[in-house]
Amino acid sequence: MAHGISAKLASILSADISEVERKRFPDNEMYLRVKEDLSGQDVIVIGNTKNDSDIIEYLLLLNAVREEDPKSLTAIIPYFGYARQHMKYHDGEPISSKVFTRAIGEYADRIISVELHNDQTVKYSKVPFNNIKILNPIYEHFKNKDIDYIISPDDGGYDRARNLADKLHVEAYYINKKRIDANTVQMNLPDINYKNKNVLLVDDIISTGGTIIRASQELKESGINQINVCAIHGVFAGNSDKKISGIVNNLVVTDTIESKYSKITTAGEIASALLNKIRA
Ligand code: R5P
Repeated sequence: MAHGISAKLASILSADISEVERKRFPDNEMYLRVKEDLSGQDVIVIGNTKNDSDIIEYLLLLNAVREEDPKSLTAIIPYFGYARQHMKYHDGEPISSKVFTRAIGEYADRIISVELHNDQTVKYSKVPFNNIKILNPIYEHFKNKDIDYIISPDDGGYDRARNLADKLHVEAYYINKKRIDANTVQMNLPDINYKNKNVLLVDDIISTGGTIIRASQELKESGINQINVCAIHGVFAGNSDKKISGIVNNLVVTDTIESKYSKITTAGEIASALLNKIRA
């Protein structure tokens, strides 16, 4: 589970990166072993819970470190997968983000994650849990670009769009997303002048890409000059990055999930949160 953020964080914190041996047992079960002596050390374990196998590896790694009796163990999860099931939507469903928050807290002294889909996940934790918002790195990336409006693809993301717009001194809007039935979503663009304008669509996550693709298609028909898209987490299920790139002028995500679109790093914000906690 080597992660680009690990190297950046290690450099910021002047920390060593521990080697981990990984292999599969003959029946395909996962095996890992931490090679360094971690007893008495402040240890950070970085990993995502994006795929099922990531989760198994991450829990095994947390336990492996805990068994070595470190001074402290901080779990850093840049992309917290399963966080969109933060509540029961129907009877009989699990609360997925609660399951993994509790499991991680079984081994970690504290948890740091980035832009969880919903803050409710933090409340499930029995150990301190810090959910970092990423605003400044996005502002830094776009501050010298020619952007006229910031638009959120739904009302739920409007605060993110408005906070960024305030810093960039432009207006923020949101698209009115209305679900007609299980397969049909209606998107009504805000009533503003799009002719020759450059917009920045901002969202927390691009998963199947359906939301951004639909919003971009609507914007395309409005006489717009340029569509920029920025999301914190680029999951890009089903190669949706390619579909989005075919429509928009510029696609950027952060490095919570590494891809060729990861032009914005969250390492500085994660390090600040970590150091604040250590000093506190
Ligand atoms: C919705 O509440 C979220 O902010 C995202 O817009 C959504 O989860 C993106 O998912 P997808 O890429 O599958 O449309």
